[in-house]
Amino acid sequence: MPDNPTVRPRRLRATPALRRQVAETRLHSADLVLPMFVREGRSEPTPISSMPGVVQHSTDSFRRAVSEACESGIGGIMLFGVPETRDAVGSGATDPNGILNAATRIAVEEAGDALTVQTDLCLDEFTDHGHCGVLDRHGRVDNDATLKRYRDMAVAQADAGSQILGLSGMMDGQVAATRDALDQTGHPEVALLAYSAKYASALYGPFREAVDSQLTGDRRTYQMDPGNRREGMREASLDIAEGADIVMVKPALSYLDVLADIAAVSPLPVWAYQVSGEYAMIEAAAARGWIDRNRAILESVTSITRAGADTVLTYWAVELAAWIREGKTA
Ligand code: PBG
Repeated sequence: MPDNPTVRPRRLRATPALRRQVAETRLHSADLVLPMFVREGRSEPTPISSMPGVVQHSTDSFRRAVSEACESGIGGIMLFGVPETRDAVGSGATDPNGILNAATRIAVEEAGDALTVQTDLCLDEFTDHGHCGVLDRHGRVDNDATLKRYRDMAVAQADAGSQILGLSGMMDGQVAATRDALDQTGHPEVALLAYSAKYASALYGPFREAVDSQLTGDRRTYQMDPGNRREGMREASLDIAEGADIVMVKPALSYLDVLADIAAVSPLPVWAYQVSGEYAMIEAAAARGWIDRNRAILESVTSITRAGADTVLTYWAVELAAWIREGKTA
């Protein structure tokens, strides 16, 4: 081996222009989706302490934020409702005037064709026990009774104008059930985003504050065990067979192997959700001066994209879109 190698990978790293030229992964605004929280019965936005910079919107602040999201050029928004009252079956989820459905109408009106309006289809924000489904008489989450609620929720969201329904409840058969409900009620055009590989993660912690979750205990009887990689593929295959339009992996950064597995074979778009805890960890470390905030954000979203995500749901979507526009991503 001579002291002066002829093969020099460093050659292409020498200047910003060279690095930009050979970059394998580029971020596009259209590939970003902003999750948003809308709270019932408030006239001002409410800060979420574990997610600095993210709020529970009032109707007014929500309308302004939707318009800002449209101007930013991001691909879509994913809406979550925070209701004032809750009950055992999550009635607010299927009430046409419930907060999520009402917010959807506002978003559709405000956004027009500028971006896609998407809604979280799950009962946990609306139930007084905080589970993603209804409970049987033993207090266990009843899969098939929950599917009936999801069917009604899907129709209510489609009626409100949602274009993509985010099935995040991890009930077996939820894709087939909601597809059938939509097709039977004249909504064949509404798309289904299946949270196929959704793991029972500690990284949803700040989200629980964001939606005032009533949950005690955990979701391990329906969300996946973090150690199970093969099962991620099984869940995605089932959702594809049931008629999903998009499959998703969640959380993102801790599950890049699962994401890469699914992206390698999926005939459908593959998305990833950079969840509340991923957001909170970077913001908290950056606030202490322990990491460079902007570089950490960029590195995380670039890595999720590199692993195979076609689109990333991230609370930084609008800020990232500004960086992309200003050429600050390299
Ligand atoms: C279920 C849902 C959750 C998240 C998105 N949809 C919470 C959960 O499964 O416990 C978490 C998102 C995040 O942490 O950012 N409605």
